[in-house]
Amino acid sequence: MLQPTAAKTPKSRLRDELRFFYSWLRHPLQIGGVAPSSPALARAIAAEVDPSVPGPVVELGPGTGVITAALIARGIAAERLVLVEFSAEFCALLRERFPGVKVVEGDAYRLKNTLSGVVDKPLAAVASGLPLLTRPLSVREQLLDEILGLLKPGAPFVQFSYGPAAPIPARPSRYSLKGSPRVWRNLPPARVWVYRSAR
Ligand SMILES: C[S@@+](CC[C@H](N)C(=O)[O-])C[C@H]1O[C@@H](n2cnc3c(N)ncnc32)[C@H](O)[C@@H]1O
Repeated sequence: MLQPTAAKTPKSRLRDELRFFYSWLRHPLQIGGVAPSSPALARAIAAEVDPSVPGPVVELGPGTGVITAALIARGIAAERLVLVEFSAEFCALLRERFPGVKVVEGDAYRLKNTLSGVVDKPLAAVASGLPLLTRPLSVREQLLDEILGLLKPGAPFVQFSYGPAAPIPARPSRYSLKGSPRVWRNLPPARVWVYRSAR
């Protein structure tokens, strides 16, 4: 039985780091990083999601569930969370670790299809750990368009990125964009980007 993330011990954290690292060795472009996000980065992402706004909250690329745990700690009920993860191994881990959370094994880049029959209301927020920079800009922009179409007007799409610039450039006529200061307590340090539709 795995440790619940909320009660992680150094041993279970190390197990997650090894699991993540071996997944990266096998699928470097899909995993996109050598270690799970730190609790500090996960908290910075969760802080952008307002738990008082009703509706489903979707997380893309949850991996071992560091951001999921931060969203729950932020006050998002497990039943509101829908996780979209490509890796069958991570999906099995997430189902065991977060009872009550919906885990969808599928492709976040085909989000409407992946969520069809799973979510039927406008989303309160989307949080993402997808390694966006491994995809061409046109694919990232298409993903953002799909996400903005699924979100409530003005609701956030929150994405972290290791690069100095936003992973999808600003387009003020279509959406607003806000970047956080760099979160240094993460390997590598990262910034949190928030996109909201301008509707
Ligand atoms: C950089 S890791 C982030 C994991 C976790 N969110 C964290 O912050 O530690 C990227 C995650 O996205 C997943 N992923 C990559 N491409 C995906 C896709 N097309 N659809 C769904 N998940 C994907 C990977 O399997 C991996 O779990």
